[in-house]
Amino acid sequence: MKKEFLDLGQQPIANKFLYWEEVNGDTDTEEFFFDLKVVFDEETNLVSLKEFVKPELMFNEDYKYNTSLSVPMVEHFKKTAELMKELRNDYGYKTDNVLEIGSNDGPFVSNFENAVCVEPCDNFVEKTEELGYKTYNAFWTTELAENIVNEFGKMDLIYSANCICHIQDLDDCFQAVKNTLSEKGMFVFEDPSLLRMMERGSYDQIYDEHAHVFSVLALKKILARNDLQIFRVDDLSHIHGGSNRIYVRRMNINSNMFDASGSVFEAIRQEKEFGLDKFETYKVFANRVEKSKKDLVEKLNQYKKEGKKVASYGATSKSTTVFNYCDIGTDLIDLISDTTPDKIGLYAPGSHIPVKNRSEVNILDYDVLFLGAWNFKDTIANKEQEFIKKGGKFLTHVPQVMEFS
Ligand code: TMP
Repeated sequence: MKKEFLDLGQQPIANKFLYWEEVNGDTDTEEFFFDLKVVFDEETNLVSLKEFVKPELMFNEDYKYNTSLSVPMVEHFKKTAELMKELRNDYGYKTDNVLEIGSNDGPFVSNFENAVCVEPCDNFVEKTEELGYKTYNAFWTTELAENIVNEFGKMDLIYSANCICHIQDLDDCFQAVKNTLSEKGMFVFEDPSLLRMMERGSYDQIYDEHAHVFSVLALKKILARNDLQIFRVDDLSHIHGGSNRIYVRRMNINSNMFDASGSVFEAIRQEKEFGLDKFETYKVFANRVEKSKKDLVEKLNQYKKEGKKVASYGATSKSTTVFNYCDIGTDLIDLISDTTPDKIGLYAPGSHIPVKNRSEVNILDYDVLFLGAWNFKDTIANKEQEFIKKGGKFLTHVPQVMEFS
């Protein structure tokens, strides 16, 4: 049975930044909102959104997240690709046929000579095609997998980052993986970790795209019913606010892939210790989220009373959840500073806070900067030393609402 534990209110498409005309009502398309509620499945322990948003509304030619513009993420994918190559000997798999599900603008595949890409967002397709990789402009399904196998054969390495948790029907997704994976092939995927989200109180990992927030516990059960098995978990505490990289093989085959380091066992031990298999744990989390909202709104109102100038730093999908859940608009935050060309000049979903180019915002005019991109806290604090020296404060809600400098 699925039990609801959290209600984050009416939310828009988290990554759909709006044009001036859309915000000022000159067009007749009204902004789309849905109820962002979260459920826990007692049978599988999977945490998912209660109501899924139609994938076409989120993943289309307007998708504004070019991974290649993020220096730390490009570095991460380069290192990951090197690791995948290094592990060939240990695990006895090949990388002749590589497939990436959700290839974005190609920072992972570009490290391989041959690869096939799957990418539903039209704007990225030509990028990976230009790099020389066949790219299917489609969602990952059993039907698509069949076409890929017919054209390219089975895959030795299937990789996916921050995408499997977007897929609403996980059984279809994993069946498609099983049907595509070569006998001794490896499926590796990374997504935000439920344990880290719960530990850090980072409820803003929850938004429309994240149909699920994964625990290893839940994945183990869902993969098993699709004849797949986890044999290694890497803890990526520094990626997207805390992620897991999950390594998967076919069930019941003779292979070098097994839990040699005990990482799967250890990940599940930690999750059970935290109580991720118990509904009560989620009720405690929900109370913490409510308190976080109260504290953040109080803090922002206090700044307003004191006449302090407040901006936000990083126009993230995560901050869409925070601003809409906490009902924060231009009354409390003047603008969002960001470096992504596609977001600059637009307005944040729901809150309609304007997004301005970092190079055009005089950060020193501000007293407080709310960290929308709290996952890059250290990078940002290092970059903005002048702001700190002048007495500026950063404000974050992770792990609790607090100022730092
Ligand atoms: P993410 O947390 O989803 O990766 O998004 C990070 C956003 O923050 C992205 O729009 C880029 C922006 N950003 C800046 O504007 N300046 C920075 O220094 C960093 C690290 C990110």
